[in-house]
Amino acid sequence: MQYFETEFIKYINDELFIEEVPLKKLADDYGTPLYIYSRNHFKKQYNDFTSAFKNIKHKIFYAMKANYNLSVINTFVQLGSGVDVNSEGELYRALKTGVEPSNIILTGVGKTKDEIKLGILRDLLLIKAESEEEVELIDKIAGELGRVARVAIRVNPDVDPKTHPYISTGLANSKFGVDTKTAWNLYTRRNEFKNIEFTGIDMHIGSQITSFEPFVEAVTKLAEMYCELKKDGLKLEHFDVGGGIGVKYRDEVPFTIEEYAENLFPCFNKLDCEIFFEPGRYLTANGGILLTEVIYNFSNGDKRFIIVDAAMNDLLRPTIYHAYHHIQPVKRDESRDKTVADIVGPICETGDYFAKDREIYQSKTGELLAIMSSGAYGMVMASNYNGRRRPPEILVDGDRVYVTRSRETFDHLLWDEKIV
Ligand code: LLP
Repeated sequence: MQYFETEFIKYINDELFIEEVPLKKLADDYGTPLYIYSRNHFKKQYNDFTSAFKNIKHKIFYAMKANYNLSVINTFVQLGSGVDVNSEGELYRALKTGVEPSNIILTGVGKTKDEIKLGILRDLLLIKAESEEEVELIDKIAGELGRVARVAIRVNPDVDPKTHPYISTGLANSKFGVDTKTAWNLYTRRNEFKNIEFTGIDMHIGSQITSFEPFVEAVTKLAEMYCELKKDGLKLEHFDVGGGIGVKYRDEVPFTIEEYAENLFPCFNKLDCEIFFEPGRYLTANGGILLTEVIYNFSNGDKRFIIVDAAMNDLLRPTIYHAYHHIQPVKRDESRDKTVADIVGPICETGDYFAKDREIYQSKTGELLAIMSSGAYGMVMASNYNGRRRPPEILVDGDRVYVTRSRETFDHLLWDEKIV
């Protein structure tokens, strides 16, 4: 059986540690299920990213939808990151961490009037427009407010990112962004939009993309448009590549950040503007673990089930994308027999599973299992289904342990509910 280890999450004397802290101790102190993050993993990913692009003028806007725990956002902001927000709720969180509005980008395919208004009033660096209607609406709202909104059009370059269909956004049939022809029309009608300043061009072609070719293809297409627009007299201040960089969950071999940079550099040559990136998963996925305890381990006919105390409400990715997450015992003991089992949660749904027919060492009731690569799109997608409280979130930095969010109480779940 393979073990998933990183620089900051690894076995020491057969005990799984996150940085300098044994996971067993965290389970003893805070119970399970439990989200645990490595701050130094986050820092390393951010620093690797900026140093790969150190030769060009660039800025990272952390896509906080991946993990919007305030301390996680703060970790990136302290390193100089801006933030990409997708809703009023994300904007509220971002501002709570003290990010300057001039470091915030407002994204989203269905922004409401109120969200657009808020974006303009808070004077965010940029509002992305994802349709002709939205450009017109932003112009109208900005006019009513007596402001000029900074806008970038999200252009759909129509390339196949070859990822899961649910997280593929750059194909012509997706709801995201406008096609190149419409984008060109909008940019060239710029004098009609008196209350908008077009400051950039934007793309985001999908998520968990493990080869750099789709990025190169998309950036090449939009760089051509950038140059045409420049010839037409519109000088944009930035080119936003979006997020989407894939990470290793199983045996994928995604490109390295250096390879990504090397392959994109030639496309950036023609662009005399700042390059923006919006990574989410790359920065956080492999810095997080969902720690869970085995409740039962039994056979039903030929099938073996390991029932754990985490469930699909805590980590939805396996259920909705059939996503693979490595699952390994916190205590390594290779003298045990191996078994093949479904690792499932206690929720009353067949889809409530973390792994199907997975080879794993026989585990006993009370044993701790680590569900790896849970730092992105984990807690942010958690719910209270089946009346379950969402887990606490712990941030580890060296030997220091911070409870950044406690386990919900049942009163939290009922806080404003009335019997009528
Ligand atoms: N920028 C925009 C406009 C986005 O929509 C996204 C992600 C990102 C940046 C960050 O993408 P990343 O670098 O994390 O790939 N829940 C799914 C992923 C949904 C991604 C949505 N958009 C999952 O668990 O795989």
